[in-house]
Amino acid sequence: MYITNSKDLVLKAYKTKKAIGAFNAHNLEVFEAVISAAKSKKAPVIIQITPKTAKHLPLRYFKKMAEAADKLYPEVDFALHLDHGDSLEIVQEALELGFSSVMFDGSRLSMEKNIKLTCQVKTMAQRFRVAVEAEIGEMPKTGDRFQKSNLLGLDTIERFIKKTRVDFLALPLGTKHGMPAPGGKEHININYLKKISKSIKVPLVLHGASGVGKQELRQARRYGVAKVNFDTALRKIFTYALGKFLKAKPQEDDLRVYLEEARLATEKIVKDKIEALYF
Ligand code: G3H
Ligand code: 13P
Ligand code: ZN
Repeated sequence: MYITNSKDLVLKAYKTKKAIGAFNAHNLEVFEAVISAAKSKKAPVIIQITPKTAKHLPLRYFKKMAEAADKLYPEVDFALHLDHGDSLEIVQEALELGFSSVMFDGSRLSMEKNIKLTCQVKTMAQRFRVAVEAEIGEMPKTGDRFQKSNLLGLDTIERFIKKTRVDFLALPLGTKHGMPAPGGKEHININYLKKISKSIKVPLVLHGASGVGKQELRQARRYGVAKVNFDTALRKIFTYALGKFLKAKPQEDDLRVYLEEARLATEKIVKDKIEALYF
């Protein structure tokens, strides 16, 4: 069933120390892979779209995919989320289309500007009765090291929550977007998370989770992380499966055949992530 407000999924998970996997979809095959994985695991999921993806395929298409999936997979609870919304315009577009939640990422702005715009997004989203995710702090870019100085003080986090009344909060927890070099891993600072989760009572969102191991994902959900975002891992496996297939069968020109290989490989990895977060 299409969940009209992601808050229903995330709060329920938060209260039961589970986390909802939030998977970035870039096309129909990845969208289908996520829904099929959720169906076979019998677990809810969030499917999310970034502004960059919306340039490749307008948000409107994804809402139609969600409507179709609602009919084709009535047993799957899933929500549609705008990930890293970078302008009020794209937030408004997602709201008008009927997305289940929106993220406004003002983390690159000054704290005061971020607070001001997040409050504006909260007001906009209230009219549509959907949840808002915000982001504070600086997550290092791929290739940079995560520094202790990236971790925010409790006062800063509490002040942001109090001023914005945001529904879910993304903040630096030790990871960064993208995946480390082969063999490497991203790490969550569990001690920090444990400490802040004693005071912060808003569900936290872990970004940059592609390189995080299963054990750490399981630990994070115990300390307030109730939404976990994956993007790179899906893109990598999709591309790898496609490349492998076409290398072995370079004559294959039926995209329904090779895209199915990529879709299946993506579905498998989504199932693995759900397993760590929800069971
Ligand atoms: O955090 C979100 C993604 O990893 C960035 O995705 O390449 O669609 O902007 P994008
Ligand atoms: P990864 O690309 O590292 O999985 O990060 C995903 C993410 O945070 C999407 O918002
Ligand atoms: Zn992110």
